[in-house]
Amino acid sequence: MSKGGNGRPVMTTILGIETSCDETAAAVVRDGRVIVSSVVASQIARHAVYGGVVPELAAREHLKAIGTVVDTALSEAEVGLDDLDGIAVTNGPGLLPALLVGVNYARGLSASSGLPLFGVNHFFAHIYGAFLDSNPEVLRRAGEYPILALVVSGGHTALLLIDASGAAKVIGTTLDDAVGEAFDKAAKLLNLGYPGGPVIERLARDGDAARFAFPRPLTGAAGKKLAAADKYNFSFSGVKTALLYHCRKHGGGEVMEGELLNDTIASYQEALIDTLGRKTFSAINDFGVKTAVVCGGVACNGALRERMTTMIPDGVELCLAPRKYCTDNAAMVAGLGCVQALANPNGDGLSIDAYARLPVISTVPFGI
Ligand code: KG4
Ligand code: ZN
Repeated sequence: MSKGGNGRPVMTTILGIETSCDETAAAVVRDGRVIVSSVVASQIARHAVYGGVVPELAAREHLKAIGTVVDTALSEAEVGLDDLDGIAVTNGPGLLPALLVGVNYARGLSASSGLPLFGVNHFFAHIYGAFLDSNPEVLRRAGEYPILALVVSGGHTALLLIDASGAAKVIGTTLDDAVGEAFDKAAKLLNLGYPGGPVIERLARDGDAARFAFPRPLTGAAGKKLAAADKYNFSFSGVKTALLYHCRKHGGGEVMEGELLNDTIASYQEALIDTLGRKTFSAINDFGVKTAVVCGGVACNGALRERMTTMIPDGVELCLAPRKYCTDNAAMVAGLGCVQALANPNGDGLSIDAYARLPVISTVPFGI
């Protein structure tokens, strides 16, 4: 937080807008930490029949919802446009048709109100989300570097190393599917609906995670030599294929039920979590990490949270994103928007565009 001329902190109030996937969200956040309102309209039910998100359908649904969602966020916060210092919008990475709805809406609002416009990177917003709602003490301790962020969602699986200067490096990423996709595609195969994560987590609780051995790709677990370049990379398509063959052997995923279904799901979830854990803990060890952040939709998963909590080495601060800020929301976007507004009060201008893919990362826009 910067200081005004009289030495008092300057308040920054930002409206955040998020439409990168299947949630239409808006939030008002003050000073990067105080969530004044946060509204999320989920389209999950609309996409569930297709077993995954359909980008054009997502865009149409965003278009229908965005006006009401933004108005609700402003009215719940009891603020008008005059009370804001800027508008932050997710402009990538994500589904292009979906992103464009939020970006164009935010551009229009910025042009008509004169408020500065900030383009927010969704991936960084997920990391920032881990610090929303934190008390200042946690934030202070979390400032111990290097920070390792494990970002696990439907679109990403990556390990990012951040040092005290804000310099950042993606040390590992998925070579194929994101881990959230591994949950979603498994649920589709087993006829459990969309999204897969929550239902798999629930059914896994009643299963025996040690009954079936699913692969832990790129961990060297099966005695396969691991290339140095892949030490922190992920690959989940092989686990998914192993599940497909497992289902065929047992008469098909759609007909699986009871103990067999629960044990299958528990074993599959265990393979995913074990892989995430192994990679994360070896990076923590190799890079002398002081703070580990776990964020993104898959960070809602209780088994993953428990694994991280029980295995975090002594002396390493673990920042698990609060569950309500793990899946897509606009509070994390507005929060990061506040930080960007302090560094660049005039904003990025109306020419910001939407982009689908994660750009090369060299710095993060926050000192956490
Ligand atoms: O962050 P998010 O809302 O959207 C993206 O940016 O992708 O993450 C959505 C992903 C979905 O793949 C969903 O299955 C997964 O997060 N997810 C979970 C859980 N809740 C949501 N995965 C595992 N366990 C959960 N409880
Ligand atoms: Zn996300």
